Amino acid sequence: MDPAATEAPTAMTDLPKSSGPQSRVSGASPVSHDASLGSARAPEGALRLKRLTVPSIRGMKKRGERIAMVTAYDATFAQMIDEGGADMLLVGDSLGMVVQGLDSTLPVTVDEMIYHCRAVSRGARRAMVVGDLPFMSWQLSTEQALKNAARFLSEGRAQAVKLEGGVEAADTVRKLVTLGIPVVGHVGLMPQSVHAMGGFRVQGKTEEAADSVLEDAIAIAQAGAFAIVLEGIPSDLAARITASIDIPTIGIGAGVECDGQVLVCYDLLGLTPSLRPKFVKRFAELYAEGKQAVATYCSEVKSGVFPSAEFAFGNVQPSQSSDASSRAVHTPVPDHVPAGYGPTH
Ligand code: KIV
Repeated sequence: MDPAATEAPTAMTDLPKSSGPQSRVSGASPVSHDASLGSARAPEGALRLKRLTVPSIRGMKKRGERIAMVTAYDATFAQMIDEGGADMLLVGDSLGMVVQGLDSTLPVTVDEMIYHCRAVSRGARRAMVVGDLPFMSWQLSTEQALKNAARFLSEGRAQAVKLEGGVEAADTVRKLVTLGIPVVGHVGLMPQSVHAMGGFRVQGKTEEAADSVLEDAIAIAQAGAFAIVLEGIPSDLAARITASIDIPTIGIGAGVECDGQVLVCYDLLGLTPSLRPKFVKRFAELYAEGKQAVATYCSEVKSGVFPSAEFAFGNVQPSQSSDASSRAVHTPVPDHVPAGYGPTH
């Protein structure tokens, strides 16, 4: 029996209930974050939050536990998505489109990806962080693949890398895995091949094309990847692949029969108003809500309603020689400025 299958369950239901930001441990002071290591460190007496690992993710398929993966690009979103219960955070090169405003992922660089990985790793406590190898960052040579993938782990503090590719990528996957770099595969619609595909099109629609996607997935699984993203393929093909390989399949636009699902966080949260792909379900409408909040702020600034007294620091404290009765009503300006953006009281 695979030892991963006997691991303790890792679902959020096993974790202490969160009572708000930072409070990830019940009855104890919050888990403190070691910025230099990018990992959670519990104070003495506190329960330690267990980071999901390669064996625990593999074990989820064996136990029939579905995997929830979400993209993240910065520390605040990473913390929110991690606390929301996602098992895996993908620092996807989709950041080129949703963060950088590009029309494809192709111009995204390794340095940019690593910058975002570092930020996400600081925000994530429990979820596994996976960094996406961008366009042409591993294809040139084994040396290039190893060097770039290793940077994601050492500089980006990710626990794994993802790469787009099928049969042609199998040797690289094998090499990375052999040398201790966990790999998530990605087959079907591969956005880095947008020009070769003639656009972002569903793949594997004919029997021949479906067999080819299946062959890609099998090659990547046999090369040692511990999970694989199936993007933009018919649901029955995704089900066939899921039944054919023993590593978890994580679908996006691939139907419900996968072992898990992934969505771009901006899509899931309704932050991409002009994009409505068929496979995206919006679980919130944060763009509309955010826009309304900014409109209210602007109107209150212009009318002088904001900042009212509760959001201000009062007046300058009169000197000793001033009248004592007037001193009593003044809010003193603190001489100690707490950490954060500025003084809080
Ligand atoms: O870059 C990305 O966000 C991805 C997901 C859509 C799977 O590859």
